[in-house]
Amino acid sequence: MSVFADYAPWYDLLYRDKDYAGEVDFVEARLRDHGIAAGKLLDLGCGTGVHAIEFARRGWDVAGVDLSADMIASANARAAQAGLEIPFRQGDACEAGAETGFDAVVSLFHVASYQNDRDRLEALFRTAHAALKPGGVFFFDYWYGGAVLAQGVETRVKVIEQPPLRLTRIAQSEHDEQKATVRVNYTLFCEDTERSTIRRVDETHRMRYWFPFEVEASLRTSGFEPAGSYAWLSGAAPNTKDWAAYSIARKAAQP
Ligand SMILES: C[S@@+](CC[C@H](N)C(=O)[O-])C[C@H]1O[C@@H](n2cnc3c(N)ncnc32)[C@H](O)[C@@H]1O
Repeated sequence: MSVFADYAPWYDLLYRDKDYAGEVDFVEARLRDHGIAAGKLLDLGCGTGVHAIEFARRGWDVAGVDLSADMIASANARAAQAGLEIPFRQGDACEAGAETGFDAVVSLFHVASYQNDRDRLEALFRTAHAALKPGGVFFFDYWYGGAVLAQGVETRVKVIEQPPLRLTRIAQSEHDEQKATVRVNYTLFCEDTERSTIRRVDETHRMRYWFPFEVEASLRTSGFEPAGSYAWLSGAAPNTKDWAAYSIARKAAQP
């Protein structure tokens, strides 16, 4: 079973409280800091398309790629509902795509941590690099190693009620310090409280946590000029309190 296949229909409900518009405000501001205020934007690992659609509503000319056919189906349905034509395609962002001429590439909500080794990470970076115009900017986030090691992993339970649905997600994590990975075993119980039905979904997501020094070395290997790494949604250095970090990189203006 592929990751996100059974999880996809429940994804938007699980993250309904995530402030996608606020995140797009933040990413737009960081892109503006680096001279990119409008134009073509590619979302690698776009999922159900929520960031991509928010960017499109703000005037960006957006395209999206995701590994999961189910997530892409949700993204297409969401775009159609919003009356937007966004080319979303199913594909592996670690393989070269046809996308070129973009002003900005984003890869949001830990897509870089779904790439479990340096080869995959660099393959993702090469796709972003090939898609950008000279001078274009890449913005992405990932699990920050310092925070994962300091905070440790634990079993977490999340319950979401949207009558008649009730969703209970149990996340059990196994940490492999040698490989710098965490296997997150998700069990979802999806209840319809009116019909008294319950469905169980199991998925394992393997996450690689990264340190900015290795991310920045891989960016250089992939042709980028790193332009800074920070704690998520801030201008502060990555720190043990913030699970996620983001990095910004630029494609050289002169090839
Ligand atoms: C946590 S979700 C984030 C989705 C979306 N960016 C968001 O913010 O809601 C991670 C996404 O990355 C996608 N993904 C992971 N590895 C990928 C790859 N190599 N190529 C394309 N998509 C990938 C998954 O299918 C999933 O949709």
